[in-house]
Amino acid sequence: MSTTRKNNLAQSLQHAMTLWARGDQDAALAITQALFDDAPANEQLALNHSGLLLHKQNFAAAMACLERHQTHAALSPALLANLAIAYRGLDQHDRAIETGAQAVQAAPEKISAWNAWGLALMAAERYDEAENVFREGLIQHPDHALLKHHLNEALEKQGKGDDSTRWSPIGSLLDDAHAFSKEGNPVAAEALYRKAVHFNPEHPQTQSRLGLFLMRFGRIDEARPVLEKAHALNPRCPTTSHFLSLTYAEKPARPNGAYIQQLFDGYAGHFEKHLVEGLKYDVPVVLSKALLDRLDSPHQASVLDLGCGTGLIGEQLRSLVAAIDGVDISEKMLEEAKQKGVYQSLHQRDIRDFLNDNPARWDAITAGDVFIYCGEIDDIVQSAHDHLNQGGWLAFSVELCGGESYTADPTTGRYLHSKAYLERILAPRFDQLAFEPAVIRYNGGEPVEGYLVFAQRAASDGLAARTDVDSSGVG
Ligand SMILES: C[S@@+](CC[C@H](N)C(=O)[O-])C[C@H]1O[C@@H](n2cnc3c(N)ncnc32)[C@H](O)[C@@H]1O
Repeated sequence: MSTTRKNNLAQSLQHAMTLWARGDQDAALAITQALFDDAPANEQLALNHSGLLLHKQNFAAAMACLERHQTHAALSPALLANLAIAYRGLDQHDRAIETGAQAVQAAPEKISAWNAWGLALMAAERYDEAENVFREGLIQHPDHALLKHHLNEALEKQGKGDDSTRWSPIGSLLDDAHAFSKEGNPVAAEALYRKAVHFNPEHPQTQSRLGLFLMRFGRIDEARPVLEKAHALNPRCPTTSHFLSLTYAEKPARPNGAYIQQLFDGYAGHFEKHLVEGLKYDVPVVLSKALLDRLDSPHQASVLDLGCGTGLIGEQLRSLVAAIDGVDISEKMLEEAKQKGVYQSLHQRDIRDFLNDNPARWDAITAGDVFIYCGEIDDIVQSAHDHLNQGGWLAFSVELCGGESYTADPTTGRYLHSKAYLERILAPRFDQLAFEPAVIRYNGGEPVEGYLVFAQRAASDGLAARTDVDSSGVG
């Protein structure tokens, strides 16, 4: 097969997976069906197509697909495992057990083969044999979460299960699901999240992880009850609360600070690798450069970096300005920033509280990729204005939405701002405004459109007084 054809095929399969994860199973299956019809001897296509059919519990169609492939090529161990699952779903127990055993014989290193064989025996109510299969599988794959959970089920069916055999840690199931998700297989990821929930329905984090996964793919209605359950089990998890609040029509104007803190404390260690290298985030570079171009005497300028994170903006500006102060809500992000040694001072505060409590003024205030975590920013913009020296600049980035206001994106948990909203809150307060269109980052390979915004405080108080009048609507 030519490289171009292989690439096209991989792209089509990826597209089908994404459609599936977004809840459009029929469209996904139409793609894999067409691809498979075109090349029924292709093992990858047989695996993907039969896999999706099995997830949809269309066992007869999965069996037909695999038997058709078999007329072109011998079934690989992975396909044997799928065929065993199809037979099990059709209550063809003997064939399921035989095929599962064949899969294990061909590839004992494949966990799916052990599971297919053991579960076929479970379905035939041959629990003692299933127990032995799972135990043997565990010799090959010690501590594998699914095998352990299935062994537990086999023991419970025989009345042998007790607290000493019950398998509770679910970390590795969730880790495996996360790994599948990261490597672009959301179908396998969802199956594992659901398995984890099935085995641990009262575990709040498991429910929450499934709910967040569904949110990411825009399946809000499915996510809501899962997140509600997670929230009922642990009302104090800020991430669950944040995303649950985004499933309702009335969304909060701001996220809670604890959510932002939890998010970035967990993100700090790999923030730069993920955002800069992975998602091509270059706001600190372009925002800093465009700000320096606007400052009259950059070398004498003092800068406040709101939501400074790991210090990427500080790194860009430090050798070119007089001093930079940083503020961020996340302790772990600040630890990374501290190591760069570019900030004169660093403060662990919410930016609203910091500005409210601090009388100082700066020549420039930056906020790179921060307001997307703040929602409504009228008050921040006002405070920033008041903390700028006359003629000073506020420079920040936003992700863009249409309309007149700002909105929360339930799939990412971030906030988007419209140009109309930004103009409405900035124009009455600032003298000069500039909106520079920019790609803020890439999401799943797609550019996220936004603006770099530059707002200059008037050089004299006269204009500030005039804008006050403007904003009150008088004159
Ligand atoms: C995406 S990072 C950007 C970091 C940095 N500005 C940059 O461009 O690399 C967003 C940062 O804003 C911080 N942040 C978000 N909302 C905040 C708030 N209300 N108060 C303080 N920090 C906040 C987060 O903790 C995080 O470090």
